[in-house]
Amino acid sequence: TDAHPAQPPTGVGLAGLREAAAGCRACELWEPATQTVFGEGPETARVVFVGEQPGDQEDRAGEPFVGPAGRLLDKALADAAIDRRDAYITNAVKHFRFTPTPKRRIHQSPGAEHLMACRPWLEAEFAVLQPEVVVCLGAVAAKALISPSFRITKERGQLMPWTPPGLRAAELAEPGADGDEPEEEVPAQTWMLATAHPSAVLRTPDDARAAAYDALVADLRVVAGALA
Ligand code: URA
Repeated sequence: TDAHPAQPPTGVGLAGLREAAAGCRACELWEPATQTVFGEGPETARVVFVGEQPGDQEDRAGEPFVGPAGRLLDKALADAAIDRRDAYITNAVKHFRFTPTPKRRIHQSPGAEHLMACRPWLEAEFAVLQPEVVVCLGAVAAKALISPSFRITKERGQLMPWTPPGLRAAELAEPGADGDEPEEEVPAQTWMLATAHPSAVLRTPDDARAAAYDALVADLRVVAGALA
């Protein structure tokens, strides 16, 4: 029988999740894509960045944010004094959705069905990482994780209290209730912040691009402040 579990395994850590996600067939995107692009970063990361879905280069490399948007994100993180090595970077959808054309594969936004199918992986990542801050990069992640009515333009750059959906209620209620120290420290409060997608900065017309980049860095400095 095909080993394509509907739910991510528990208690396997990020490496185990990554391995299981490689065989995910919860939606149809796995078939034309090269591979699953799972999140990347240390299990000790205090901040998690959530993008939309891998792009063409990420699909080929098997790593998130390594193409043009990733290079811009790297620069913005550096300018905001956030070390990418302290961050976990992932996507709301973990396969590249595209329309094939003779010359290139054209990015297509994920549909609600792809976000829903992929959601258990994101929740499993949150459950392992128990981040202090979650940053939504762009409207797709923000609408999926905060609210369908969330408007990046109006509400970006603000830290909001947030409960990760993957954090089990029992862990919050009674950490170490059996008398032992809890295995991992549950943060007192998780914060959420949404900002522009790096690709949106790249698509901004020449005359406004520097300002769009500066606004992204300004939002990331708020994140840096929350981690300080
Ligand atoms: N855009 C995203 O949203 N995610 C990536 O990994 C790359 C580009």
